[in-house]
Amino acid sequence: MDTSASPQALWDICPDVRDDESTTTSNLGIRQTFGGRVLLAMRSPTLSQLEPSRATYELHLEQSHNYARRAADAIAGGVNSNVRLSGQRICFASGSGSKLTDIDGNEYIDFALGMGPTILGHAPPPVLKAVEETLQLGQLFAGQHPLELELAELLTRHIPSAERVRIGLTGSEMVQAALRLARAHTGRPGFIKFEGQYHGWFDNVLVNHAGPANDPVEGLPFPVHLQTPGQDVSSTSHTYVLPWNDLDAVRRFLKDNSDKVAAIITEPVMCNTGVLAPRDGYLQGLRELCDQYKVVLIFDEVITGFRLGLSGAQGMFGVLPDLSTFAKAFGGGFPVAALAGSAELMNLFANGVNHSGTYNSNLVSIAAGIATLQVLADDNGAAFERIERVGQSIIGGIREAAQRHGANLKVLGYGAVFHTLFTNEPETYDYASYKRADAQRQAVFLDALLPLGVRPTGRGTWFVSAAHTEEDAERTVRAVDQALSASA
Ligand SMILES: Cc1ncc(COP(=O)(O)O)c(C=O)c1O
Repeated sequence: MDTSASPQALWDICPDVRDDESTTTSNLGIRQTFGGRVLLAMRSPTLSQLEPSRATYELHLEQSHNYARRAADAIAGGVNSNVRLSGQRICFASGSGSKLTDIDGNEYIDFALGMGPTILGHAPPPVLKAVEETLQLGQLFAGQHPLELELAELLTRHIPSAERVRIGLTGSEMVQAALRLARAHTGRPGFIKFEGQYHGWFDNVLVNHAGPANDPVEGLPFPVHLQTPGQDVSSTSHTYVLPWNDLDAVRRFLKDNSDKVAAIITEPVMCNTGVLAPRDGYLQGLRELCDQYKVVLIFDEVITGFRLGLSGAQGMFGVLPDLSTFAKAFGGGFPVAALAGSAELMNLFANGVNHSGTYNSNLVSIAAGIATLQVLADDNGAAFERIERVGQSIIGGIREAAQRHGANLKVLGYGAVFHTLFTNEPETYDYASYKRADAQRQAVFLDALLPLGVRPTGRGTWFVSAAHTEEDAERTVRAVDQALSASA
């Protein structure tokens, strides 16, 4: 262990965990993993010296760790979504606007935003009010309610390709509904998905979003990498994995295999690996190939929808998919999701294709969706302008800090969602080029931000909400600067 780092700081962070499982050192300091928990000791200055104006701001997580120990005896793994198994196990007490407070009393400027949904910040008053107002009306009717039509009309107004919608609760199920429609429409069994993209946790799509990158010269489609024990291999037998942002790969594959392919599903901006923009003409090229081979084009806008603007990535890039999936941002933190598409495809649900769900269009979710969309649409989309402005302040500040420190820290993406990574690549445009970034430096950098009160997602993606302010941006950039100066 490098003794120039401060072991004391390490124990201050987590005083009651002593079983060292792994230790790595980097320019930033020491990173240790204890039973899945990651702790960081800064090299110099120590954590308490990093932000003189808040000299006492160290991460004391005693209550969180006590919670984690209790939770492990009641909840499998202590968490209710596997994504939360990695990184710091922080137990939160509350969220308000751009801030989260944990049960030890630490406050964070939150850029995880529930992994994207809370686009208006935590506990947004207009959404809470709308939800409260519907509570007295009842929750579930196993029938229709005028509010669900109001939400559907808002969705069809804002989403350029939406002639019809279906409303559900999660992105994962909307993806499955989209794939089912595509199979029903084409009579073909398979679909193309792209390496590094995530479309939910169900067996047929949970492949190749993590793990080693493949090389197209070794053949297409890529070998399927299952991502979990217990996954049904047979359910992936019609899943064809290709590299993203490589139109020629899709063209070559479809030329010989289009009779097996019902759909191409893609995140229009790859937000589950970095935040990688489509190359010029790529989405349009997919559209043309789909038209040529009568394949259904599905945009998975679970992250980009109502985050990159009211009309999503499809509006931003001017390419219309046949079907698109939405969740996260449009519920403002409440569980609501949608599948949108052409009348021809969507009306198959009225002609034999099954899409069901007990809790679909429950009033709480519907009210939250309507209120969120109304706030986002108010004043000609002023919320998006604010998000973009604050996000760009942070991006600009991070880039300047990186330059000052001579760090290869790059920022990819947009004001509303961006990604930080340490890379010397001239262009990060697909999973393989992303995997060449320095993952260890990234982890140490992200860990260094937490004690400074800044919380991006554990993978380095930053979501910005309408509640983030210029002051948050300044504090965040200062924290980034301080985290980087620790490695000088
Ligand atoms: C692009 C994309 N599609 C689908 C999903 C699955 O959505 P959910 O977690 O709501 O099931 C996610 C979740 O992160 C996602 O990012």
